[in-house]
Amino acid sequence: MAAKKVNIGIIGAGWIAKRAHLPLLLEMDDVAICGIYDTDGDRAIELAELFRTKAVSSIGDMLELTPDAVIICTPNATHTPLCVQFLKHNISVLCEKPLATSVQDAQQICRAAAASNGVLLTGFVNRYRGDVQRMKSCLLEGVTGAVQTIEAGWTRRMGVPRPGSWFTQKELSGGGVLHDLGSHMIDMMLYLLDAKSASLQVTERLCSLYRRNFDYSTYNNWLGTHESGGIEVEDSARGMVVFSSGATGLIHVSWSEDVEGDLVELKIRGAKGTLQLQTLFGFSNLGIMKEPRLTFMPLGGEQIELELPAPEHTELSEYRSQMNHFIRCVRGEETPLADEMDGALTVNLVDELYKSAARDHVAV
Ligand SMILES: NC(=O)c1ccc[n+]([C@@H]2O[C@H](COP(=O)([O-])OP(=O)(O)OC[C@H]3O[C@@H](n4cnc5c(N)ncnc54)[C@H](O)[C@@H]3O)[C@@H](O)[C@H]2O)c1
Repeated sequence: MAAKKVNIGIIGAGWIAKRAHLPLLLEMDDVAICGIYDTDGDRAIELAELFRTKAVSSIGDMLELTPDAVIICTPNATHTPLCVQFLKHNISVLCEKPLATSVQDAQQICRAAAASNGVLLTGFVNRYRGDVQRMKSCLLEGVTGAVQTIEAGWTRRMGVPRPGSWFTQKELSGGGVLHDLGSHMIDMMLYLLDAKSASLQVTERLCSLYRRNFDYSTYNNWLGTHESGGIEVEDSARGMVVFSSGATGLIHVSWSEDVEGDLVELKIRGAKGTLQLQTLFGFSNLGIMKEPRLTFMPLGGEQIELELPAPEHTELSEYRSQMNHFIRCVRGEETPLADEMDGALTVNLVDELYKSAARDHVAV
């Protein structure tokens, strides 16, 4: 007999719901999309028609549909009250990143998750990428030896998400590129170093934030166009952290860099050599790498190319892996690869970097 379908509700009918989560849910046989809620009712109705489900007009109405799980796809500052509310009803949550916009909020989500029968998966979708998984297995196999430095960079040429929208308003976003792309890159650092299981502490942190004047009135990229609000947040951030192991982490994230195209680089220098991944995360059409490239240069030796799983040439493959994993977590068959604690660790480090920048290096 086929297993009962997992009932999923969508909270927030915007870009990521339409572009990634809903198309994936629609193709899954063991899932039913029970409804969509958005504070903007018209958006909920539009996506409900497109993805053959119903729009609901309140959280209460969503609860009446008795979802097994919800996917929270709303502006960053709304994640905490929404996560807490659904977890209190023992409904599992896949929450888009960043988990929260403050340390206190992240702690509140952790407490709610601990008290809930539902699971929480933080949407660190890049953990599910084939190239990242390969890099992680090289580290687990001890290819680099003890890590000395880890560099995590994600630079975009023209990647401000809808200038003037909530993304660039501090109260709703929590901050700029450090929250947006930085959450992913900090999570990569913590994940690759196994920081949670190894109880690695951050002992030093330093950060600078930058913003440049730009006429955004005709801005147009794959994320949308200019909206009516102002730009209150940084478009570029550079950070440095030192871990209790002695390893140093360097972060460089930018929505707006004077580069040929968009690039993600993860570079790990260890006692035995350097492992480097050059790739592209996200949906950008301005990437400079045609295919991801993973190399290892052994200490004193020649650089070698490491084989990567064949790319699926679909932007949704890591979202698909994340969604399949989430459904298995909801069914109790797996435990979250990125749980609330992983989400909170990244929120903490982002917060510490913002504090460092506010104290010493404000240069916006
Ligand atoms: N994993 C990734 O790489 C990735 C990519 C894009 C977006 N995101 C994350 O997804 C989230 C949403 O981003 P987006 O680009 O879809 O934004 P968006 O602005 O396109 O959509 C957000 C939607 O939420 C609705 N909304 C606002 N407050 C609400 C509330 N309290 N309850 C219900 N609906 C509410 C808005 O009306 C809007 O329709 C953000 O946290 C963002 O960081 C993650």
